Amino acid sequence: MLEIEGVESGYGKLKILRGVTMSVPNGSMVALLGGNGTGKSTLLKAISGLLPVWAGKILFDGEPIQNLKPHEIVRRGLVQVTQGKDAYPAMTVEDNLKVGAFSRSDKAGVRQDMERVYELFPRLKQRRKQMSGTLSGGEVQMLVIGRGMMARPKMIMLDEPSSALAPKVVLDIFRAINKIREEMSMTILLVEQNVRMALLMSDYGYVIRDGVIHIEGKASEMIDDDNVRQSYLGGTVADTDVAALS
Ligand SMILES: Nc1ncnc2c1ncn2[C@@H]1O[C@H](COP(=O)(O)OP(=O)(O)OP(=O)(O)O)[C@@H](O)[C@H]1O
Ligand SMILES: [Mg+2]
Repeated sequence: MLEIEGVESGYGKLKILRGVTMSVPNGSMVALLGGNGTGKSTLLKAISGLLPVWAGKILFDGEPIQNLKPHEIVRRGLVQVTQGKDAYPAMTVEDNLKVGAFSRSDKAGVRQDMERVYELFPRLKQRRKQMSGTLSGGEVQMLVIGRGMMARPKMIMLDEPSSALAPKVVLDIFRAINKIREEMSMTILLVEQNVRMALLMSDYGYVIRDGVIHIEGKASEMIDDDNVRQSYLGGTVADTDVAALS
């Protein structure tokens, strides 16, 4: 579904991505891992059209999307969920969700998807008339994931959805991601610091270092890989196993 070949990008003259190659097959969940400042968010921004792609190719559904405008990429069904702080604080939960559906004109479908978001996150339903600025950190994270779902995407990219949240809330977020994946057969690219949980949930993993893919493999094998384990395994719910997700 998403094919990235030799992508280079950065900020001004500063090259961050030095030829990233990876793929996210239709219906799969892929984890993108790596230390702070290694280029994970930069890669998501380049895929989403928020940063120029200097070299290489990005194909979505077989069509090149590099350097399209962000809203054109969203319209094609590829949606990035950034960190929770991107909710509009002076708008209600419900209005924030509607923003996610800006490119759609099928009102009945939008209503249906809003109900689905509320099923996924019952706390958002309770707070639907509340200003987003008054939500807890975990609730805001739920809101931005829900807003991403409102575009009825084919694929979502999540940038550290569990960061800076309490362990119990982290588990709620991972459960919801797992549900989105299983019940809606969503294709997902997941950037996570919680490496163990990300690999438990994913089919395949990539580790990025200094702007290139450094390690890749089946997620189930990466969990047992000493290199990955020594460098990256950890996280706030390290003891949790996949059974906790359902
Ligand atoms: N707007 C910017 N202008 C200049 N340099 C930037 C900008 N944003 C990020 N960088 C630099 O690009 C590099 C990669 O940053 P990026 O945000 O992609 O890292 P990351 O892998 O997402 O890290 P983290 O896990 O901390 O979120 C870092 O050295 C960072 O300082
Ligand atoms: Mg980042």
